[in-house]
Amino acid sequence: MLERARVDAPGSADGATHGYALSIVVPTFNEQANVATLIERVGKALEGAAWQIIVVDDDSPDGTAEVVKAIAAKDTRVQCLRRVRRRGLAGAVIEGALASAAPFVGVIDGDLQHDETLLPRMLEVLQAGEADLVVASRYVGDNAPVEGLNPVRRLGSRFANWLGRLVLHQHLSDPVSGFFMIRRERLEAVAPRLTTVGFKVLFDLIASQTEPLRIVELPYVFRKRVAGGSKLDRRMVIDYLGLLLNKLTGGLIPTRALMFGLVGASGVAVQLAAVKGFLVFGLGFSLAQFAGSMVAMTSNYLINNEVTYRDRRKSGWPLLLGYLKFCALCSIGLAANVAVASEVHQLLPIWWPASIVGAAFGALWNYVSTAAAVW
Ligand code: GDD
Ligand code: MN
Repeated sequence: MLERARVDAPGSADGATHGYALSIVVPTFNEQANVATLIERVGKALEGAAWQIIVVDDDSPDGTAEVVKAIAAKDTRVQCLRRVRRRGLAGAVIEGALASAAPFVGVIDGDLQHDETLLPRMLEVLQAGEADLVVASRYVGDNAPVEGLNPVRRLGSRFANWLGRLVLHQHLSDPVSGFFMIRRERLEAVAPRLTTVGFKVLFDLIASQTEPLRIVELPYVFRKRVAGGSKLDRRMVIDYLGLLLNKLTGGLIPTRALMFGLVGASGVAVQLAAVKGFLVFGLGFSLAQFAGSMVAMTSNYLINNEVTYRDRRKSGWPLLLGYLKFCALCSIGLAANVAVASEVHQLLPIWWPASIVGAAFGALWNYVSTAAAVW
């Protein structure tokens, strides 16, 4: 049996096959209608090169993984990594890339929006040693057409790019592109530092380097999506802002803590609005204040569950149980806040520094304790 396998295997005479020159990672979620076409087109574009494709599918309910595995059963260059009970574009891309042993790793969307005919050129640039990273950019040249984005997304995308450039200190027209190719060792080096939440793998990859990457950008036209829908939503935008802040603070504050803090700040606004509402409704102040706090705590919990801890999102009974724990822990946080503020106030009888220290202490407690006990 072993002998047979050896005889059948392509490659050198001793049965060992040669390694791949390029691994193409394709993250997919519900791309059943696109993925076969994509694999075929990538194969055609890279004809003659020693390529492999690693599709990383997050257990798409539409059966994307089955489609890929059916292809993989006939073509050893195609692999499918099916991840269960996990979601996230960034994490999928990183895991797929880490499965590669090729000198170069490319990343391309599975929905046919990226122009796969650019792949050979990207590989050439890397192989020639002209760059460590090649980014396929939607914005090289001023009025580059971006067919696949509506005007609102186009503006948002431009803004995201502008922010990204600000943080990266590196000139790059499309630092949030999902289409790029990199020298594998540069990815491996920073892999442990990359965040698995959100959409912005490329940005993170660049920002996490300790030595600057030599980057070449190549233009392409971002196509319209034909089948299926985009998975980018408002939460991804928040994730991205969190990542930017994280990089701005030199990675000091974890993205989750920042998001938790932002959610807490939104809670203040919610509380004020709710108290006002209850007062208008005729409740006495103390009762209105209590009810308003409960509303704020509830909205904080739900938003954190949806945004900050999206990858561990609770639903059903665990959601309720988590809510009770969250309320209990935040009440302790409130008590600690008041206690610490009073202590500080005795040492330094000015209200605002005492109040700030108390609030900071309460917030820190809330974050650390709920991170450990709720999510
Ligand atoms: N495995 C996995 N898990 N794949 C995912 C997930 C996920 O949670 N979410 C999305 N994908 C896959 C999609 O199936 C698709 O192949 C690719 O990632 C891009 O997702 P889209 O939902 O089509 O993103 P988009 O077209 O709106 O956004 C594109 O442009 C952004 C910049 O504006 C992408 O190229 C992004 O990477 C890019 O940042
Ligand atoms: Mn897309």
